[in-house]
Amino acid sequence: MEKVTKIHKAVFPVAGLGTRFLPATKAQPKEMLPVVDKPLIQYAVEEAYEAGVRHMIFVTGRNKRAIEDHFDTAYELESELEATGKMELLELVRSLQPSDMACTFVRQPRSLGLGHAVLCAQPLVGDDPFAVLLADDLMCGAEQGNGVLKQMVEVFLQVQTSLLAVQEVPLEHVKRYGIVAGQPAGNRLTKVERMVEKPSAEEAPSRMGVAGRYILTPGVFEQIRNQPRGAGGEIQLTDGIAGLLGIEGVHAYLYEGKRYDCGSKEGFLQATVEFALKHPEVGPGFQEYLRHLRH
Ligand code: G1P
Repeated sequence: MEKVTKIHKAVFPVAGLGTRFLPATKAQPKEMLPVVDKPLIQYAVEEAYEAGVRHMIFVTGRNKRAIEDHFDTAYELESELEATGKMELLELVRSLQPSDMACTFVRQPRSLGLGHAVLCAQPLVGDDPFAVLLADDLMCGAEQGNGVLKQMVEVFLQVQTSLLAVQEVPLEHVKRYGIVAGQPAGNRLTKVERMVEKPSAEEAPSRMGVAGRYILTPGVFEQIRNQPRGAGGEIQLTDGIAGLLGIEGVHAYLYEGKRYDCGSKEGFLQATVEFALKHPEVGPGFQEYLRHLRH
């Protein structure tokens, strides 16, 4: 592979049914659930944009039209805001589509798993390394620091191998994650030697859990295509990446920052409270409200 100097494309698998959030997700995509005033998918797209990605590829499914509409021009809304002089809101709505950002959409026709979703994006990704962001995982860089994907792009440019964001997870939670193990390879970096999707506590090779951020080399597509079904009978992304281990290197990066598991109600509520407290408009009032609530 020629030395890569930039990551241009990011894949957002957004075809999942969001059953953990029913009934809220019966008729609306889970990725459109807002944390304070922004849908989850927008946080992920902004994180990718900050990292220099300009081509956003969404792997969608039935009932996901709202995501396409969110990143499209809203003519009626924009002309109404313009006519009524609500210029700040107009700017806000237009800022969702920077002129140098392209969005494309491809369908995942059947729910066969995360690996399969990523494979659906292959014709749009082509032959270059690309990022994958799971919008359920709302990632926040360290205070004043870079976002998590931006940190990863910087590391990727040095290692030039597939790279996974990891964090330490409690032993009782390893069964929710892809778990990796390997040898220390530098600051916050591990050279991966083993990967298992959702192991039991006894089988887990470590407590290093994969968070929903990846930079992958295009070789992963062939691995995904040729692998048997894995955990839960699904075509797993973790297994595809594990298939790369004997062929090319894979690294895990202990990111700086915090992850909110917004696929779960607890994580979603934590994100809502913490983002509300930091929000310039509602933060101070909300803090006051919470203080009174405790007494
Ligand atoms: C997916 C991946 C898993 C990863 C997790 C992070 O699982 O398969 O390897 O650790 O995302 O959120 P899911 O949460 O979709 O079951």
